[in-house]
Amino acid sequence: MFSKIKACLFDLDGVLVDTAKYHYAAWKRLAESLGVPFTEHDNEQLKGVSRVDSLAYILNKGNIQSNQTQRQQWMDIKNEWYLELVSGMQQNELLPNVVSFLAELKTHGIRIGLGSSSKNAQLILDKTGIVNYFDTIVDGRHTTNSKPHPEVFVKGAQQLQCSPAETVVFEDAISGIEAAIAGGFYAIGLGDARTLEKAHFVIPSLENFSYQQLVDLPIFR
Ligand code: BG6
Ligand code: MG
Repeated sequence: MFSKIKACLFDLDGVLVDTAKYHYAAWKRLAESLGVPFTEHDNEQLKGVSRVDSLAYILNKGNIQSNQTQRQQWMDIKNEWYLELVSGMQQNELLPNVVSFLAELKTHGIRIGLGSSSKNAQLILDKTGIVNYFDTIVDGRHTTNSKPHPEVFVKGAQQLQCSPAETVVFEDAISGIEAAIAGGFYAIGLGDARTLEKAHFVIPSLENFSYQQLVDLPIFR
């Protein structure tokens, strides 16, 4: 089913950069300002999910009726708060081993793509100085369907001229793992193995992961 690895597609928030905590803080602030309790469990459901769909989840949870103008205002406020939180961000907020792992993949000729739901992805890549590692960037500005739809990864693989069977997806979100599986990719989950039970393989983070461990996975031998 899977063949020799030619490409890797990375989610951004929570995989390469510790921005998942900022999205969480900003959504929690918005939800609570609307009188909707927002827990870690809610946050887990929203990881990887677009801005529009995340707001819809919160409004649905609070049984809040709204019109398009109000929804746009709430999304704008959430994004303002998020941008305040990331404004001072630098390269030291990259997660451990990210730069070494990307560099190692490059050395071995593996193509690298970004597959993120975020419309702020380019900004974060610029702030953290890793943009040059990417052969392609597909993000929330280029997709119409949010994860768990596979569009973001399918587009990424197409742009890297690789098939899903020769492309590995790295994801920290339930919706992202579902998107990768739906697209026919090999899905590596980063985080808790029970939360990410649908992934083919789960590691706590990229911290202790290497190119050699990737190609040594039984499925690729
Ligand atoms: C995903 C995050 O990467 O992007 C979500 O995991 C976030 O938490 C989504 O809601 C959309 O991000 P943005 O930056 O376009 O609001
Ligand atoms: Mg993520």
